[in-house]
Amino acid sequence: MTIILSEDVTPDLEIKFRKILTICFGEIFRNKSYNHEIPKWRIYIEENNKIISYLALHEKEFLVDNVYYPYLGIAEVCTLPEYRKQGLAKLLLKEVDCIPEFNYILLIGNEQYYRSSGFYYPGNVFVSAIASIPKSNVMVKCLHEQKWFDNKIVLIDREF
Ligand SMILES: CC(C)(COP(=O)(O)OP(=O)(O)OC[C@H]1O[C@@H](n2cnc3c(N)ncnc32)[C@H](O)[C@@H]1OP(=O)(O)O)[C@@H](O)C(=O)NCCC(=O)NCCS
Repeated sequence: MTIILSEDVTPDLEIKFRKILTICFGEIFRNKSYNHEIPKWRIYIEENNKIISYLALHEKEFLVDNVYYPYLGIAEVCTLPEYRKQGLAKLLLKEVDCIPEFNYILLIGNEQYYRSSGFYYPGNVFVSAIASIPKSNVMVKCLHEQKWFDNKIVLIDREF
């Protein structure tokens, strides 16, 4: 398992990341945040010179009651088809908890993949201050014994 800052990613490694992302997401990959916004970190597992499981981590902020809070936004979780259901994505997700100085982790996804890693739908995350309906597929996980907020959470910047 490796955690790497995007600024340290070599061209060769970048090619490997794009390979697993293209295999796992196909055409959708072109529309994902990877192509619009460089993540701060990548976490991955490599075997026989290929990346077999991968996720990207963005450093973001949300706003609640006029206070900004930093959070980690997980994107592009993927495992090569032949390596799936062996707990690899779960291993990567566990590693995210070790990034220091963040109390909250957010992702957009299906609970069947993430519930067992401690994520749940809070139901109070909005993509803008004027949005009237919360974004239903945002999942959160609190670290360091922090509690989630009761009030409206507004994501700053673009989604991840
Ligand atoms: C989703 C994905 C990353 C899971 O990777 P993985 O390495 O197989 O995941 P893990 O083996 O660590 O399993 C994590 C959890 O997801 C569940 N899971 C994995 N694949 C599943 C499937 N096809 N159907 C239902 N649950 C599944 C596992 O059972 C596990 O939950 P549990 O702990 O409650 O048993 C992988 O299937 C993938 O790359 N899919 C294509 C890309 C994608 O859709 N990414 C998710 C974007 S939200």
